[in-house]
Amino acid sequence: MTDHAQQRLHAHHGGEHFHDLMVRSFDGRFGDEFWAYWAENIAPILGEDPTLLDLGCGPGLMLRAWRERYPTAVLHGVELQPYMLTTARELATETKATLHETDLHTLSLPLPDASVDAILCAVVIHELREPIGMLREAKRLLRSTGRLLVMDWVRVPLTQYLEAWNEDPFDPTASPELRADRLDHFMEHCKYSRDDLWWLVERCGLTIETAKERADGQFLWLVARA
Ligand SMILES: C[S@@+](CC[C@H](N)C(=O)[O-])C[C@H]1O[C@@H](n2cnc3c(N)ncnc32)[C@H](O)[C@@H]1O
Repeated sequence: MTDHAQQRLHAHHGGEHFHDLMVRSFDGRFGDEFWAYWAENIAPILGEDPTLLDLGCGPGLMLRAWRERYPTAVLHGVELQPYMLTTARELATETKATLHETDLHTLSLPLPDASVDAILCAVVIHELREPIGMLREAKRLLRSTGRLLVMDWVRVPLTQYLEAWNEDPFDPTASPELRADRLDHFMEHCKYSRDDLWWLVERCGLTIETAKERADGQFLWLVARA
């Protein structure tokens, strides 16, 4: 990642404490609803020793969750942000996963074509300057039976977006910094509409099998095959 891209991501995350937020919020993001969706749409296509890949794995907690469920799976994660890497390296060692410290913008993993059973890309696409190269690499890597699960923010009206946060930028005591932060994040989280995200995935050669909207349409989950 260029210094510029890394600084941009650091600003979007609001600083290094974003690591702790990702750890604290993991169980909410990947709770019963997620695992029910996984059981319905991903688990049935996984064989005995599946190969699983987490693109933008953050601190790497999904590697541990996968290892608990799939003791003999081959696990891979991709991450580059320095404040995520310390924990991601520890969890990769603990789970015997391979951590690829590389930029998703120029993703080219040392894995053969059609060698991965399931790829997760959770809350990452909106952070990329462009996801096309990564999605094409996902298509290359997926087995014919494989599945890509994309989960991300999608566009909602400003009023709905702001209501979902605790801090109200219209509160008279709200600082200019808070107001700017909320509206910057509106632009970043609402970058793609539901149809845009769907189209991007399909335009990269993947076929969407099923999709689900969450949180009144603020998030979209897409399952695609190569
Ligand atoms: C919102 S976090 C989500 C982390 C994890 N997927 C989860 O849901 O817990 C997005 C992650 O993608 C990573 N990421 C964003 N852009 C990246 C890039 N260009 N290369 C590698 N990782 C990137 C960030 O550093 C961050 O850890």
